Amino acid sequence: MAANGTNDRGEERSLPAGAKATAARPIVVDRLTHEDVNDVCALFRRVWEGFRNDLPNELIKAWEPSPLEFTSWMEGVTYFATRREGKLVGVVGASMVDGSCRLVNLVVDPDARRQGYATALTASAIEWAKHNGSRSVWVDALAKFTGAVAVFRNLGFSEAGVLHKHFWDEDVRLLEKLL
Ligand SMILES: CC(C)(COP(=O)(O)OP(=O)(O)OC[C@H]1O[C@@H](n2cnc3c(N)ncnc32)[C@H](O)[C@@H]1OP(=O)(O)O)[C@@H](O)C(=O)NCCC(=O)NCCS
Repeated sequence: MAANGTNDRGEERSLPAGAKATAARPIVVDRLTHEDVNDVCALFRRVWEGFRNDLPNELIKAWEPSPLEFTSWMEGVTYFATRREGKLVGVVGASMVDGSCRLVNLVVDPDARRQGYATALTASAIEWAKHNGSRSVWVDALAKFTGAVAVFRNLGFSEAGVLHKHFWDEDVRLLEKLL
């Protein structure tokens, strides 16, 4: 393991920088596998259920993939996962596009929020990006997702702009972190 907790292939990272963890509840981030597909689809449903009154139906539909759809999302995207007592509670995807790393689909179970899971997932994806020679990491987030923006800003991302009415009328913020 490297000093930062990533193995030399960037595959696993426990206690990433900035993650909240205790000896009793360490946060471990590993790779999502095809065996997790049903669980990750259930996680997306739990997360977006809470937004039914706040987001366009088209958007909710697009972000609640079937197992078959999620399997195709996994093509070319490395998904990181974190679990609590064996249950999947968070994921984020990372993919290399034109030499920079794009993060997608960061979610944490509503029952597991403000415990450092998103921070741990994102920190692991950043380490993976560095390991893959990326010069920057970027992400788009709905402007109204202030919690997500706070997570990224805490990890050193800065706001690079806004795409107006980008996702079914919703404004989207672009955030980037240079590596
Ligand atoms: C955004 C989200 C991923 C955050 O997950 P999380 O595991 O709760 O985040 P963390 O515990 O790592 O948060 C780290 C810090 O970010 C900030 N933060 C996180 N959520 C916040 C919120 N809702 N409001 C304000 N600040 C927030 C805080 O500074 C927090 O530290 P603190 O708890 O000590 O105050 C989660 O709320 C979620 O899944 N939301 C719905 C989906 C979503 O917005 N996805 C992002 C798409 S880009």
